Amino acid sequence: MAQVRAAITGVAGWVPPYILTNQELEKIVDTSDEWITSRTGIKERHILKGEGLGTSYMGAEAVKELLKKTNTSPDEINLLICATVTPDMMFPATANLISDKAGIKNAFSFDMNAACSGLLFAIVTASQFVESGKCKKVIVVGTDKMSSITDYTVRENCVLFGDAAGAILLEPTTEEYGIMDSILYTDGSGSAYLHMKAGGSLKPPSHETVDAREHFIYQEGPPVFKFAVTKMADVAAEIMEKNNLKSEDISWLVPHQANLRIIDATGRRMGLSKEKVMVNIQRYGNTTGATIPLCLWDWENQLKKGDNIILAAFGGGFTWGSVWVKWAYDS
Ligand code: ACO
Repeated sequence: MAQVRAAITGVAGWVPPYILTNQELEKIVDTSDEWITSRTGIKERHILKGEGLGTSYMGAEAVKELLKKTNTSPDEINLLICATVTPDMMFPATANLISDKAGIKNAFSFDMNAACSGLLFAIVTASQFVESGKCKKVIVVGTDKMSSITDYTVRENCVLFGDAAGAILLEPTTEEYGIMDSILYTDGSGSAYLHMKAGGSLKPPSHETVDAREHFIYQEGPPVFKFAVTKMADVAAEIMEKNNLKSEDISWLVPHQANLRIIDATGRRMGLSKEKVMVNIQRYGNTTGATIPLCLWDWENQLKKGDNIILAAFGGGFTWGSVWVKWAYDS
């Protein structure tokens, strides 16, 4: 019997209208457009404004757009997985709230927390349900309202993050397309350098935790950078070696957008020219779970059936990984 693979059959994205520029940040913290651009590649990021609007709002907008453009009824969806570190609430899962908002009633849904690698962890998990025959149509949505956990008094962090959502549809195929291979890693000892101090069971919220500003991202940039730049490049090279893929076989690298220097190092390690590396960090910043689907959404018109695409990410946890995708459709 032919092997069943999970093919990506559609992508969509949603970004909030409000744009926070580097010039605007210069008025909030002691920073400069020159510093932000040269150290990170970021020029602007989108921020979700409005009372009562959380991560699920953006995720649902991306999912509704995905259903519309792929001509899929919400009733056809069997499973929805949401990759996020900024859930609307500790519980229920943001995936459930997105399903409800998008009219998805015949599915089960759950969240995955793998920070900036969340989308990769979710795609690989989703593909198991498709390959096993358990599910026919699965949505993976990466959505994060990073502005809700960003301390706008900490200059090394607040320049990095933005808000957005991206969604991907996965369906079975017996052709040689889809998720071909993946490598995922975690190293919990990295949590020392990148975490949120309070709000969980270890340190529940209190007046003290709020006063100490412990409900925001805590990041030690340089050690995280050092780890990220090595691990993301290593794991992208590893999946190429494992599958005997040469740089000329690769059509696109879709890197998580955390820092342009990390992206460039990964592209170089894979032997790719800059034209083959998707970069939109200058417009969105680091949107955590949303960066990879936002790239696929932005570049969808240029993707061709049969293109070999490497997705690669590194994030809090630490988590990192790569996925080899053979693109399944011409736009
Ligand atoms: N504006 C101006 N100066 C600044 C700013 C700023 N916004 N931020 C820091 N500086 C200063 C520092 O104070 C320091 O000054 P000093 O030399 O006088 O002490 C100098 O700039 C250099 O600071 P570094 O922290 O060493 O700068 P670095 O080159 O490491 O860049 C950055 C910082 C951008 C945070 C980088 O470390 C980075 O990208 N780290 C990795 C981030 C990442 O990939 N995270 C994982 C994903 S996030 C997730 O999973 C949720």
